[in-house]
Amino acid sequence: MHPVILAIESSCDETSASVVIRGKVLNNVIASQTVHQKYGGVVPELASRAHQQQILSVVNEAMTSAGIAPGELNAIAFTRGPGLLGSLLVGVSFAKGMAVALDIPLIEVNHMEAHVLAHFIADPKPSFPFLCLTVSGGHTQIVLVESYLNMKVIGETRDDAVGEAFDKAAKMMGFLYPGGPLIDGFAKLGNPKAFQFPPTSIPDYDFSFSGIKTAFLYFLRDRKLVDPDFVEKNKYDICASLQYHLVEMLMQKLSKASTETGINQIAIAGGVAANSELRKSLQQYGARQNWKIFIPDFEYCTDNAAMIAIAAHYKFLENKFSSLDVAPLANLAIGN
Ligand code: KG4
Ligand code: ZN
Repeated sequence: MHPVILAIESSCDETSASVVIRGKVLNNVIASQTVHQKYGGVVPELASRAHQQQILSVVNEAMTSAGIAPGELNAIAFTRGPGLLGSLLVGVSFAKGMAVALDIPLIEVNHMEAHVLAHFIADPKPSFPFLCLTVSGGHTQIVLVESYLNMKVIGETRDDAVGEAFDKAAKMMGFLYPGGPLIDGFAKLGNPKAFQFPPTSIPDYDFSFSGIKTAFLYFLRDRKLVDPDFVEKNKYDICASLQYHLVEMLMQKLSKASTETGINQIAIAGGVAANSELRKSLQQYGARQNWKIFIPDFEYCTDNAAMIAIAAHYKFLENKFSSLDVAPLANLAIGN
């Protein structure tokens, strides 16, 4: 059997579809939603409406550009969770409709497992076991990956995700959503040691970003009392210092996990994997700790259906299909 699978991703604010044939991803059609920008964050109701409007054309484009007729598909895959319930429902319902109409099986995919498996879309691919730091607007996790379908979270955030910390800090400085890439851009021109922020001490491999968020709020408030133009005058240094601090928080835990597990194949995934300081720091730690580093193409770091497609391919090979009464789960955890 050479499985031909159509995969659909709709967990947050990207509507995406991808076709995978025998483990080779043919395309990755993504329609992003710009409607949220003026609200400073994703508005769940607007996200589900936009998915509803875009999903048919996104799926059609993926099928047409792959040159695949519906009758050639062997399965339909979809993101079951975690994510926004209303957004997930659009993808799940669409996938069920196609599976029933074509009389082919359904494959549910865990969005966080798919972020990890994005490393198997293109070369170079890690071998097992490896550690994956998944950093996005919704998640911050260190995952120990033993095989395609066997992975466990060994550390995660106890409150906000690191992407959320980037975006909220950016909002406090008056930048548009999502502010993470803007902070990255300004930081390139600044001094990362210009301002210091208080360290957090969270046990094990877990993270916490709520403290730095509050500390940053008070830092800006106090400085602006002295000089109302403080942010405008020091934008580059503020961004560089904050970014350096956030990345150090990630790297110290990743380094500890590598040392204590003895695993030196280190991967990163998720939207924040695009951050230039994180990439630089990963190389520096890697050189010291003899790591082999894996960073997927940016297209496969942010939310996309290609990662759902590759995850579905491995599930298909193990006959892991879903029943037609499967429902989305907003908090679906890895391993469930
Ligand atoms: O994985 P993703 O596309 O969506 C989910 O949250 O699932 O990640 C989006 C997050 C946002 O918080 C965005 O600000 C952040 O990734 N991000 C960055 C950069 N590019 C995207 N954060 C810091 N530096 C970047 N270059
Ligand atoms: Zn994601």
